[in-house]
Amino acid sequence: MAKINKEDSALGATIEEIDLREPLDEDLTAFISHALAENEVIFFRDQEISPQQHKDFALRFGKLQSHPVYPTVEDFPEITILENDEKNPSKIEKWHTDMTFKQIPPLGSILLGKVIPKKGGDTLFSSLSAAFNDLSKEMKESLMPMTAIHSFEHGFKESLAEPYGREKLSQALIDNPPIEHPVIRTHPITGKKLIFVNSLFTLKIKSMSDSESKGLLDFLCEHIKQEKYQCRFSWEVNSIAFWDNRSVIHKPDNNYWPQVRRMERITIDDTQSPY
Ligand code: SIN
Repeated sequence: MAKINKEDSALGATIEEIDLREPLDEDLTAFISHALAENEVIFFRDQEISPQQHKDFALRFGKLQSHPVYPTVEDFPEITILENDEKNPSKIEKWHTDMTFKQIPPLGSILLGKVIPKKGGDTLFSSLSAAFNDLSKEMKESLMPMTAIHSFEHGFKESLAEPYGREKLSQALIDNPPIEHPVIRTHPITGKKLIFVNSLFTLKIKSMSDSESKGLLDFLCEHIKQEKYQCRFSWEVNSIAFWDNRSVIHKPDNNYWPQVRRMERITIDDTQSPY
């Protein structure tokens, strides 16, 4: 029977004694869903799974998304390839929640390590619920009615600035106009309050002047990434990180040159609106 081993940090746990090549039954699926909601990110080691097994595992938790920008594994449009080296470092090294430019951002992502540098290339996760709990009562109350604008264009500005970037991403720009999310959302399973802004995609706090918004967003984005809310995952080939995209921000470390890092990611739809 699968076992859970909690990290000694604000979030994170490793699930042991489980073989993800085998189909998950109802009990194991419920166990993993519960572990994910409670621990905000869960890890697995030594899971030599095929793209089909990766997909079958993810399908137990919801419908799968495709990404408007990244390349995908042949015959698996739902499996995004994140491959980086010195010439092409990750452009998502900023702390972020995945795809908050969508009206309903994903429930979570399942990232599989395929080519792992000998040193470096960790992923950091930070708990948005622990960060909310630490705010003063006054700050919590003032944030509660606020909404923020999230923007695909803002998040992908580096890619858009590359030669032909606007042409390549023209359809994605049309499909993903700026949208609004509450600054504080409630986790649909745990009921925990979460600070739902991130430095990659959040453009502005609505109804504030640009300088007020910048001051508040800078404060929140610094606050949520403090080391005391974090855990660090050091990858091995066939390790998996499954994060609850509603509860954490995350970022990879771009610190492994001249080595290469290749990951495969599946992102799962949420059915719960953040409103
Ligand atoms: C991601 O931000 O979705 C990927 C994180 C990583 O490559 O470590």
